[in-house]
Amino acid sequence: MRIVSGIQPTGNLHLGNYLGAIRNWVRMQDDIESHGGQCLFFLADLHAISMPHDPAELAANTLEMVAALVACGIDPDRSILFNQAQVPAHSELQWLLNGTARMGWLNRMTQFKDKSGKNREGASIALFTYPVLQAADVLLYQATHVPVGEDQKQHLELARDIAQKFNNDFCPVDAPVFTLPDPIIPPDAARIMSLRDGSAKMSKSDPSDMSRINLTDDADTVMQKVRKARTDPEVLPSEAAGLEGRPEAANLVGIYAAMAGTGVDDVLKDFAGEGFGKFKPALGELLVEKLSPINERFVELKQDREQLDAILAKGALKARDLGAPTLDAAYKALGLVRG
Ligand code: TYM
Repeated sequence: MRIVSGIQPTGNLHLGNYLGAIRNWVRMQDDIESHGGQCLFFLADLHAISMPHDPAELAANTLEMVAALVACGIDPDRSILFNQAQVPAHSELQWLLNGTARMGWLNRMTQFKDKSGKNREGASIALFTYPVLQAADVLLYQATHVPVGEDQKQHLELARDIAQKFNNDFCPVDAPVFTLPDPIIPPDAARIMSLRDGSAKMSKSDPSDMSRINLTDDADTVMQKVRKARTDPEVLPSEAAGLEGRPEAANLVGIYAAMAGTGVDDVLKDFAGEGFGKFKPALGELLVEKLSPINERFVELKQDREQLDAILAKGALKARDLGAPTLDAAYKALGLVRG
């Protein structure tokens, strides 16, 4: 098993990232020794330049995100933790894959449509071709499994299509260059929604900070955000089916279940017939209890610039070695002569 996944270092880690992806990264890292595999987790800083950004902020956020991931339980001695910018093979492989990816495939990517919005003509080329870089990110390391939230499923399918076409077009049947990766999407927290709008995913790019719980929020802020979360006037039902058509209520109960490590029906057993006046404080307290140890570790680690730099340097060294054979094979398969 080779597990590879990434996160953009744009702003804080929020609850959607944590429940949708990072918690799975930590679980997979902790199990991997018994499977005899390897985990690579990276900061997708090259992806972050596809949207307008402030260079000083990107640099600071990259280091903060390392601190946040380590605080969540990613162990840089067991997993390879690095940023793309220190491993040029990501960009190189993207260019090689640009020859295989089709315009029609990229045109179907919903994230490009969402992020470019009405300003399609003004969007960067990087925003359009970003899914090819994402394919390079995982194919470079022969990833077998990619733990992500549901919003990344389409990008992973594209990575598989690119790998398959490249293997078909340029490799002997018995010697493909690329492995087709499988997404791993957590069934209980595939898509955590905004606290202000049950139809929008919780996201770093939402202008309202009240829409998300950041892993760096202190206890008072968490309690306040949960108290102000949008809900409906109904009481909670006794089983999951009763949450249909109530996206905000379903989201809050789903968050509770994911944080408590139980099912939605179990949560509803305890809260059936109760209003949000009772449920919200319980949810806030559960979040504070689970997130405060992460918060404390994060605050401590982010001061230690030397350690954060060292983690990234060590991770990049290992990632470069691991990616080199696949990059070489891709150049060779395409007939590119390199001394
Ligand atoms: P990013 O930085 O937007 O998100 C990082 C991870 O968090 C998950 N996630 C969510 N899960 C559930 N509910 C939510 N509301 C929610 N918001 C975010 C995402 O699915 C993701 O797993 N393009 C990627 C980063 C990337 C990548 C890769 C991932 C670059 N290369 C290669 C996997 C493999 C992104 O922008 O994720």
